[in-house]
Amino acid sequence: MSAVPGTVEIRDTVAIVWVDNPPVNAISSLVREHLVRSICELESNPSIHAMVIACKGKTFMAGADITEFSKPYVVNRDADMIGTLHGCTKPVVAALHGTAFGGGFEVAMACDYRVATASARVGLPEVKLGLLPGGGGTQSLPRLIGVKDALRLMLSGDAIGAQEACKLGAIDRVVDGDLLDAAVEFARSKMNVGRRRVVDIRIEPSATHASLLQDARATAQKSKTGRHAPTQIVDCVQAAIELPFAEGRKVERERFLACRQHPESKALRHVFFAERRTRKIPDLTEDGLARSVKVAAVIGAGTMGGGIAMCLADASIPVHLLETSQETLYRGLAVIRKNYEATAAKGRLSRAQVEARMNLILPTVSYDDLADADFIIEAAFETLEIKKDIFQKLDKVAKSGAVLASNTSRLSIDSIGEATARPQDVVGTHFFSPANVMRLCEVVRGSTATSPSTLATSLELARRIGKVGVVSGNCYGFIGNRMLSGYTGQALSMVVEGALPEQVDGALRRFGMPMGPFQMSDLAGLDVGYRSRKGRTLTSREQRDYRLADKLVEMGRCGQKTGGGYYDYAEGTRTPSPSAIVSELIDDVAREHKVTRRVVSDEEIVERCIFALVNIGCEVLREEMAYRASDIDIVYLNGYGFPSYRGGPMFWAEQVIGLPTVLERVRNYHALTADPVFDASPLLIRLASETKGFDSLEVVSS
Ligand code: COA
Repeated sequence: MSAVPGTVEIRDTVAIVWVDNPPVNAISSLVREHLVRSICELESNPSIHAMVIACKGKTFMAGADITEFSKPYVVNRDADMIGTLHGCTKPVVAALHGTAFGGGFEVAMACDYRVATASARVGLPEVKLGLLPGGGGTQSLPRLIGVKDALRLMLSGDAIGAQEACKLGAIDRVVDGDLLDAAVEFARSKMNVGRRRVVDIRIEPSATHASLLQDARATAQKSKTGRHAPTQIVDCVQAAIELPFAEGRKVERERFLACRQHPESKALRHVFFAERRTRKIPDLTEDGLARSVKVAAVIGAGTMGGGIAMCLADASIPVHLLETSQETLYRGLAVIRKNYEATAAKGRLSRAQVEARMNLILPTVSYDDLADADFIIEAAFETLEIKKDIFQKLDKVAKSGAVLASNTSRLSIDSIGEATARPQDVVGTHFFSPANVMRLCEVVRGSTATSPSTLATSLELARRIGKVGVVSGNCYGFIGNRMLSGYTGQALSMVVEGALPEQVDGALRRFGMPMGPFQMSDLAGLDVGYRSRKGRTLTSREQRDYRLADKLVEMGRCGQKTGGGYYDYAEGTRTPSPSAIVSELIDDVAREHKVTRRVVSDEEIVERCIFALVNIGCEVLREEMAYRASDIDIVYLNGYGFPSYRGGPMFWAEQVIGLPTVLERVRNYHALTADPVFDASPLLIRLASETKGFDSLEVVSS
């Protein structure tokens, strides 16, 4: 790529300003300068009568260069693209292909006309980064498509296809043939028509607009990606209604700068890059390591197996679904069909799509049928013996080079691999429930055996089925559940010490978790943990903290499914209400263990739960079970519902709280509780004393 990210091409009296800034033509300051300089030169060139803005590569400009938002803000009046386009006297046409997002769409809206390929998509996704469209988008879009649709698009951040954009009035023509030829022709046809500037459109203030703004403000308050940016967007749209374009832009600029500095945006920008960084694995730098996956197989048609089979079918991958008996197989298939039909009932799948997906799921009770599968995922009971037995069978029937994956949530991938003569092909693929909904898949690498090609194939498959794959080392509970044990452990401890389940859940919900740990247990069923505890020796602290859960299960209170668990549930409802029985049981447990209950503050609840996560996260990093702290954040955001506007537990600890403070609080909680979970991680101690951040540990360049 040349230093100037683009060129200018002249076709008679039409000039094409090309942008060429791979991979996504992000609008960097160099792109901005190139556009402004080229447009100004062409504006004063008398032989040019119209211009086209187009991009090389796979897409029109996909937005501002997000990496530049973390640098100090500098006003560069020579790089005001939007102002330059508005001030132009010659018609300008934007030629859109790929994803014209954010700043790219704003540039297009500052042009007089927009033509697009049928596959092009446009959108203003800034809200997903805690930002607002700061290049005139909040002022242009309502003028082009109306207040209602503009609010919908900007508050959701969702993109729309060219046809829909054309219907709404954001695109003038959808072209079938060559985009550039069509754009040049279009520009030629507008040479004598004069300008058609978005700045000249006026929106009439009305009662309808006032009510739309009011509704949008209420929606903004409920946004899952933070509340700051959505509220600012609504204010900017109000300015678009009430003020001339230039005045509205001033409001937009001021609000944009405030968003850029806001912790929510810093966190969401971290999440954007963190997600992309998960793919960077030290020994997977070579291209072509991933093996082709044409046919898959899933063993076990229970909740997890069925969900995983659906993910594969959704991605058009034929999948054998194996069960031990016809009866369990057909029960599993019936659940899958019911799930698809529920989606169809909501209008998100057609009848034909339901049938096509069901037809991709190939039921069987015979291992021999798995012989053509390239990727086999075992999702059977969480018992090492059962898993070993399955892998021995797979070793006999699977074709050479097939990946043999286990959906275990905590068992050793090394031990499972040893059951086969091909441990290099064995890997963990830990999906989260419900598997067809949750985006996370922990890809667990055996300590030494799993080959780079097996890992690459697993990560590629995860991506293909719409999951974010995060590589974890082989330790008990892997990244997510190992850390979760500290989080739930603290929740249980605090209940014995003085809190109530509803207080713990409430404090964590207010922190941003979608559900508290006790609501979560009631949903998952308390009997699951009860059974797994019976198979292992508990420490005396665990015996104390799990006493309540054990008593509840022994009373038949296994959660929502039995009408009671940590909460009571009125017949046929899923709404938890505080339980007097539970409250009494808690007092009994405290008495049994000679604990004098005390007031536990909401602050203590949040700190103990989240700092326990962070301290274990530091151990996960120190033992190199995760490649980087940001991978841990992605695990928590996508597998456990950690609020994205807080960036993940590690980001929150480092950027919001500060590691020295986290260390101090961890030590305080250790003094208070003597809980080993608060034995400060040596890594936390080192980073806090060296005032270094997690990025200083990065092993792979990002
Ligand atoms: N600024 C800087 N870098 C960007 C970028 C942006 N706006 N958009 C994408 N990139 C980078 C990614 O970090 C990635 O870099 P990497 O290869 O070093 O990891 C690379 O471009 C490719 O992006 P990726 O998301 O992996 O490709 P994709 O084909 O799956 O998706 C997009 C392409 C454009 C749809 C997607 O990247 C996207 O949604 N980008 C953000 C758009 C946006 O929010 N714009 C408004 C900005 S305010």
